[in-house]
Amino acid sequence: MIFLVGFMGSGKSTVAKELGKQLAMPVIEMDEAIEEEEGMTIKTLFEKFGESYFREKETTFLKTIKADSVVSTGGGIVEREENEIPLSTGKVVYLQASWETIVERLQQDTTRPLWNGDDEQKKKRFENRQGKYERVADETVVVDGKDSDQIVSEIIHRL
Ligand code: S3P
Repeated sequence: MIFLVGFMGSGKSTVAKELGKQLAMPVIEMDEAIEEEEGMTIKTLFEKFGESYFREKETTFLKTIKADSVVSTGGGIVEREENEIPLSTGKVVYLQASWETIVERLQQDTTRPLWNGDDEQKKKRFENRQGKYERVADETVVVDGKDSDQIVSEIIHRL
């Protein structure tokens, strides 16, 4: 199992698809799977039931992953300590992006419920998460200025 972790906009989904293809492994996109299960977008889910409901679903889903696969996690997977147990059963790769990269990529994004508020709030969340990703990571790959092919080959090299 390979878990990709990192902040919103770090490229987890894109990299997971490509990595799965190259390693001939199934790809699991956690946010998409939860959206399918719940029959609504993450945004609506947050609006209707709140963040803690989503976190519950996220933890439950994470525990059910059994097949050896490449898993693209949601950026907040590190918010709950109990998620560290299932994560530790695989290889955790942290896609580390700078604040500038994230801002550039998410500038126009309106789909992510936790990418809101003023810049200071967003940056605080970003900074608060760094240590958490580092804590669970077996490998850290810096993504700034690299395309997904480069990132994927770096990951494969380190497996
Ligand atoms: C979240 C990140 C999102 C999604 C939800 C919460 C977060 O996933 O799970 O909006 O707390 O950082 P992405 O990292 O794929 O955007």
